[in-house]
Amino acid sequence: MTGAKQPPLEERRESTLRWLRAEVEREGDFRRLAQAICTHLYRNYEHYSWVGIYMIEGDRLKLWAWDGPQPTQHVEIPLHAGLCGWAASTGQIANVPDVSKDERYLQCFASCKSEIVVPIAHGGRVFGEIDIDGDQLAAFDGDDERFLQQICDLLGARYAATGAP
Ligand code: SME
Repeated sequence: MTGAKQPPLEERRESTLRWLRAEVEREGDFRRLAQAICTHLYRNYEHYSWVGIYMIEGDRLKLWAWDGPQPTQHVEIPLHAGLCGWAASTGQIANVPDVSKDERYLQCFASCKSEIVVPIAHGGRVFGEIDIDGDQLAAFDGDDERFLQQICDLLGARYAATGAP
């Protein structure tokens, strides 16, 4: 993050959703859209320490896009493994305040203390997820859940309609 002063979170979230609604219409390539979202979230929300989008391919999650200080070794995750596999296979949000206390957690970055994973779904079908790591304990609250859910709803509807070329 730069030292520039950011508007309050609520305003930023509204402006992100406005930007994304336009981007979903404009960007024809789902992978590029996924990358734009990861970069936007990582650069605009200082408590999002690493942002990735995994999509389901067969029995695995594959990392289609990410932004953050370093790459993850988890570019593929089986659907039965990690918080990522749990969220994709249950269709539920995983919001874990302390990853060291959660047995589902698959370790990635030593700096990661909390993690949120929100499924990208539409019509009861899960297509993938947004995965965000936090360097602070309990980095994500109910507002993050609602905000990321809105983003994933837009992405899920778009993916259901057009897929990815
Ligand atoms: N911690 C994740 C693995 C992916 S990385 O955090 C990028 C998990 O438990 O599924």
